[in-house]
Amino acid sequence: MEVLECINTKRSGRAYTDELISQETLHNLIELGTKASNGSGLESWGFVIMQDKAEIDSLSERTKQYLADNLEKYPYFHQYESWLTNPKFHVFNHANTVLVIYGNTESHWHVYDCSLAAGNIMLAAHSMGIGTCWIGFAEPILNTKEFKKKHGVPEEYELVSTLSMGYMKVALPSPKRKKPIIFNK
Ligand SMILES: Cc1cc2nc3c(=O)[nH]c(=O)nc-3n(C[C@H](O)[C@H](O)[C@H](O)COP(=O)(O)O)c2cc1C
Repeated sequence: MEVLECINTKRSGRAYTDELISQETLHNLIELGTKASNGSGLESWGFVIMQDKAEIDSLSERTKQYLADNLEKYPYFHQYESWLTNPKFHVFNHANTVLVIYGNTESHWHVYDCSLAAGNIMLAAHSMGIGTCWIGFAEPILNTKEFKKKHGVPEEYELVSTLSMGYMKVALPSPKRKKPIIFNK
C-alpha cells in the first residue's frame, strides 16, 4: 500500500478475525515501530506481546471493574461509565493479540518516542490488513507493578501505549476529521 493511501485510510479497528498474528509478523511490526524518530537517539521503548486469550479476557474484566469502582480518579472516563458496566463490553475488543509499549522514564522523551513507535506500528499493520486500536482504558491496570513484574518490565519503564490487534473482519471507511485549526490564518 502506498504511504499516503495508508495514512488516509487508517482507522481504529475493533473487529478482528480469529486468525492469530504470527510472532514473525509481530516482531517485524515492532522493528518498524523502532524506526521512528526518538529523542536524543535514546530509543526509550520496550514492548510486551500478549497472546494468551484467557489473560487478555481476564485483564479486560479487571480493568472494567477497577475503572467502574474508581471512576472519580479518572474524569476523562466518566463518559464511558455505561460501557464499563456492560457485560458485553470487552476492553481489548476481543482481540487475541495485545501489544503494550513502555517508555524508559530515564529519557525525558519517552512518551513522544513510544507514541511515534505506536503510530508506525498502527500504519504498518494497516498496510498488512491488520487492524489496531489504541486502548487508553488499559493504562491503569497494565502499568501496575504487579503486571510489569509478571511480564519482565523494569520498574523505570512506564506504560505509554496499548494496542489491541488482529486481522480486520471488514474494511472501514476512511477517517473523517474536522478542518484543522491553523492559528495564524
Ligand atoms: C490516546 C488514545 C486512547 C484511546 N483509547 C481508546 C480506548 O480505550 N478504546 C477504544 O476503543 N478506542 C480508543 N482510542 C481510539 C479512538 O477512539 C479513535 O482513534 C478515535 O475515535 C478516531 O477514530 P479512528 O482512529 O477510527 O479514526 C484511543 C485513541 C487514542 C489516540
